[in-house]
Amino acid sequence: MSIIFHEETKVFHLQNDAISYIMMVLPNGKMGHLYFGKRIHDREDFENLLELVPRPMSSGIFVGDKFFSSQHIKQELPDYGTGDYRSPAVEILQKNGSRISDFQYHSHHVEAGKPLLPGLPATYTEDQKEAETLVLNLVDSVTGIEAELFYTIFAQRGILARSIRYHNKGNQSVYLGRAMSLCLDLPDCEYDWVQLSGAWGRERHVKTRRLATGVQSIGSMRGNSSHEHNPFLILKRPLTSERQGEAIGFSFVYSGNFLMQAEVDAHDNTRVLVGLHPDTFTWHLKEGESFQTPEALMVYTDSGLNDMSQSFHQLFQTRLARGYWRDRVRPILINNWEATYFNFTEDKLVQIAEKAKECGVELFVLDDGWFGARNNDFAGLGDWVANPERLSGGITGLAERISQLGMKFGLWFEPEMVNKDSDLYRSHPDWILEAPGRENSQGRNQHVLDFSRKEVVDCMFEMMAKILREAKVSYIKWDMNRSITECFSKSFAPEQQGEIFHRYILGVYDLYERLTTEFPEVLFESCASGGGRFDPGILYYAPQGWASDNSDAVERMKIQYGTSMCYPISSIGSHVSVIPNHQVYRNTPLHTRANVAYFGTFGYELDLNKLSEKEIEEVKEQIAFMKEYRSLLQFGAFYRLKSPFEGNELVWMVVSEDKRTALVGWYRILNVVNDRFTRVKLQGLNEDFCYEVSQDGTKRYGDELMNLGLVTSDATAGQTPQDEIPCTDFESRIYILKAVEV
Ligand code: DGJ
Repeated sequence: MSIIFHEETKVFHLQNDAISYIMMVLPNGKMGHLYFGKRIHDREDFENLLELVPRPMSSGIFVGDKFFSSQHIKQELPDYGTGDYRSPAVEILQKNGSRISDFQYHSHHVEAGKPLLPGLPATYTEDQKEAETLVLNLVDSVTGIEAELFYTIFAQRGILARSIRYHNKGNQSVYLGRAMSLCLDLPDCEYDWVQLSGAWGRERHVKTRRLATGVQSIGSMRGNSSHEHNPFLILKRPLTSERQGEAIGFSFVYSGNFLMQAEVDAHDNTRVLVGLHPDTFTWHLKEGESFQTPEALMVYTDSGLNDMSQSFHQLFQTRLARGYWRDRVRPILINNWEATYFNFTEDKLVQIAEKAKECGVELFVLDDGWFGARNNDFAGLGDWVANPERLSGGITGLAERISQLGMKFGLWFEPEMVNKDSDLYRSHPDWILEAPGRENSQGRNQHVLDFSRKEVVDCMFEMMAKILREAKVSYIKWDMNRSITECFSKSFAPEQQGEIFHRYILGVYDLYERLTTEFPEVLFESCASGGGRFDPGILYYAPQGWASDNSDAVERMKIQYGTSMCYPISSIGSHVSVIPNHQVYRNTPLHTRANVAYFGTFGYELDLNKLSEKEIEEVKEQIAFMKEYRSLLQFGAFYRLKSPFEGNELVWMVVSEDKRTALVGWYRILNVVNDRFTRVKLQGLNEDFCYEVSQDGTKRYGDELMNLGLVTSDATAGQTPQDEIPCTDFESRIYILKAVEV
C-alpha cells in the first residue's frame, strides 16, 4: 500500500495490491479524477487520461485552453456554478445570495493509519500499518471555506474510505446546502445498477437495472436509512456475476437521510455521488466552525460480486464493528415478542425462559411492554421504568430469576420515541419534534423525541443506564418504530432548522456511544420495525441488527440473501418462529426455519412450551448444531451460490479459514415432481482436500466439489418410497463438509 505524489505533474496515486486510485491537480487548480480500478503501474504522468476535446458549445472553458472545459472534466469535488452542469458534491449558500464556489487545490499531507471522525461512526485501524490516509486541502478563495478531502486506502483488498471536512476560515457565515461525502466520475456508463430495496417485511431485495442517460438514485428522507432503500449501491459490468467480473460497491456509513445517485451525461460519463440527502439538509457554518461529512466507502473488485461482498464483510466485521462482541460468537436467544406480544405476566415469561433453557438457549430477551403504562402501543413509551403490575420485582427481579435459570437476560428499548400518554411527555411536552402551529403526523401512535437536544439524550441515557447499573442486563434490543415527520426543533434557531435531521442522528450516535462506553459487555442489537435502520452506521455500535419483522423462512431467504450483498452474517438477526407464520401465515418445516436462521445470529421467537415433544427434541438438536458451528457460520467466508431471486432454489455456503470445514445450505421453495438432476458448484474449498459429505458419507475432493459440483438431487420425484420421509414444499438441507485423511 502506498500513496505516491508526483511533484512535477501533481499526480496522486493511491495503490495497494488490488486497486489504484489516481487523481491530479488540474490546470485550473481543481482536483481532477483520473482512474479508479484494478491496480496499474505507477507513472509520473497520467495526463493522457484527462480526455480533453474541444466540444462545440462547451462552457466552463478554462481561460486560454479550448480543450479544457469543466463541463466534461472528471472531478473529485465538483462544485456549483462554474460550468460543470452535472450535480455538484458541494454547494455553499452565501450572504449575498450566491451559491457559486470554486474549490482549488491548496496543499496536502499523508497520515499513517486513519483518523477518527468526531461524533460519527467510521471504519478504523488498530495498527497504523493497516492503512494510509491522504488529506487534500482545497480552498474556495472568495468565501474562505476550506475543504479537507480524506482518502484512506487499506493495505488489504480494494477498499477506499472517503469523507470531507469543511472549515469556515472566511469572514462570513455560510450555509452548506450540499455536502456529499464522495464523488466518483467514471469514464463510461456500461454498468448495471444494483440496489437493495423493499419495504417493511421485505427489506433489502436485490433489484438490478441498466444504467441509463440521466439521473438515477436511491435515498431516504425519512430520518432513518429506511426499509425502502439501503445505503448501498453496486455498479457492475453487465456480464459480472457472483464469481467473475468488475464491480464497484458503494456504502454510506450513516443511519439517516442519504442520497446515492448516478448521473450519466451526454457523453456517457457517469458521476456517482454519495452523501447526506441534500433535500433535507442545510448546515449553518459560522466563521471558525467546521463540518464533518459521514464516511462513504468504495470497494472495487474484478472477481465478481461475492468477492466484493467478502471485502465488505471483512471490513465491517473487523474494522467497523467494535468492542467486546466484535469477534465473539453471538448468544442463542429467545425473544418473547411473537410468543406473547403485549400479553404477558412475569410467570409466563419465566416459563418461556425455562423451556428455552432446557433446550440450550443462552439468552432470554424481554421485548416491548415491560415499562410504564405500556399495555398496548398507545401508551408508555418514554417511561423506562418497569411496570410493577407486570413485573413485581422490576427488571432487577426478573433479570435475577432469569439469571438463576443459568441464562443471560436482555431487554427491549425504544429510546427515541414517546407516547403522548406517558409521564415523560406530560413533563416535557416540548421535547418532541413538531412544527409550530401544525398538527403532528401520526406513526404507530408515537412521536419522535428531539434527539438533536442534548438534554433529551442525557435524560434517555440516565433512564437506560439506571436499569443497566441495577439489573443484570447483558443485551439490549434498540428499536425505532416510526420515521420522522415535522422535523422541527424548538431549541434551534430558524437558520439551523435544516440541521435537525442530521443532528438527530448525531444524538442517536451519542447515546449509543455513551451506553457502549459505560456498558462495554452489553450486546446491542439494532432494530427499526425490523430492518428499517440496518446500515453500517449502526453496525459501529450494535454488531447485529434485527433484519426484518418478517420471520417466515421463505421470505427470509430473499431478505438475508440481499442483506449478505453488503453485511456480514454475524450482523444478521435471524430467528425461528412459529407456524402458521405471523406475517404470511405460511407453514414451513421446523428444520427449514432453522436452516435459514443458522445463517445469521440465530435465536427463537416463539413459546417453546407449545411445541410437541418431538419438535422439542429437534430444537435441542438445532441448538447443539448451532453451538458447534456458529463460529464458522458467523465468521467464516460466505459464498452465495444460487439466488432465490432467480429461481426456485437458494444455495449459500460458509468455509472455515483453514478450509477444512464448510457448511452448505440448500433450500428449495416449491417441490417439483420428476425434476432434473441438480448439482451445485461449491466455492472456497481447498482443491486438494478430500471432504466427507455429511448427507451420504461420501468423500469428494475439493476440486470435484468446486468443478463438478455437489449433487443436490433428492430421492423423491413425486413418488416417495415407503420408508423415506417425503419431501415437501420449503425443503432444505445443511451439508456438512469436513476434510478427512485418505
Ligand atoms: C418492532 C420490532 O421489529 C419487533 O421485533 C418488536 O420489537 C416490536 N417492534 C415491538 O413493538
